[in-house]
Amino acid sequence: MEIKDSVAVVVGGASGMARASAELLASLGAKVAILDLENSKGAEVAASMAADTAFFPMNILDSDSIGAALSRTVEKFGAIHIGVNTAGGGMAQRTLGRQGPHDLDAFKQIIDLNLTGSFDFLRQCADKMVLHEPNEEGERGVIINTASIAAYEGQIGQVAYASAKAGITGMTFVAARDLGSMGIRCLAIAPSLFQTGITELVPDEMAVELTKDAAFPRRMGKPEEYAKLVKAMVENPMLNGSTIRLDAGQRFAPK
Ligand SMILES: NC(=O)c1ccc[n+]([C@@H]2O[C@H](COP(=O)([O-])OP(=O)(O)OC[C@H]3O[C@@H](n4cnc5c(N)ncnc54)[C@H](O)[C@@H]3O)[C@@H](O)[C@H]2O)c1
Repeated sequence: MEIKDSVAVVVGGASGMARASAELLASLGAKVAILDLENSKGAEVAASMAADTAFFPMNILDSDSIGAALSRTVEKFGAIHIGVNTAGGGMAQRTLGRQGPHDLDAFKQIIDLNLTGSFDFLRQCADKMVLHEPNEEGERGVIINTASIAAYEGQIGQVAYASAKAGITGMTFVAARDLGSMGIRCLAIAPSLFQTGITELVPDEMAVELTKDAAFPRRMGKPEEYAKLVKAMVENPMLNGSTIRLDAGQRFAPK
């Protein structure tokens, strides 16, 4: 799918990997709506780009706010062709620890934020994508979720996060099948450690330690490197259903 003149919604676009993706897509001629929390820097980031952009507040945990932000995007830009979503996060607790079994509500909260939220965005985004005519190749859109290499080798204490991210990987393939007849592709990116949000403050020596299991390069990923994969996923119609690891060959050790 051509990026130029397409419309992208980027959830989490006020920061990190989604912000870099929004900036790259805008620089390539897309119209970009940043969807992020009300109190985020979304408006500031949208205004900083020399392109047709907008900020619509939403919370991935609030289904109505997702619908409203997507409707506002269609009202402003006429359609949605690209959806990128990075909203998510983790917490640390063992399946069975000194305090007893893993807190069940905490487990459900992580599933809600990462998996249910991503599915809600995906299903509502697809519902907007079917509204426009497909291009000459029959393509209407592409939706990109964010997993983690913890989906494959989660570390001790990551049971909730790893379950949610593995769910995103499973969901992505089936969603691609479900949406294929409508010309909508669905993909996911599974990053290793990336320099974003709180990890931006990790000192260099610690980053070397945290990435010592990588093949090459042994450093944290840069948000722009995530954005480059978003670009490739949008442009290459043969990419579909997969979760692609973006990890410099890193495999997490148990701790
Ligand atoms: N940074 C890493 O090392 C790393 C590694 C693997 C996976 N991930 C995944 O990447 C995503 C985080 O992206 P990032 O690393 O660029 O972080 P980031 O903190 O720089 O950006 C996350 C953005 O998401 C927004 N956000 C948070 N909660 C939200 C919600 N409920 N609704 C809408 N927006 C919300 C934040 O306001 C922020 O702008 C998560 O899904 C995380 O699991 C990150």
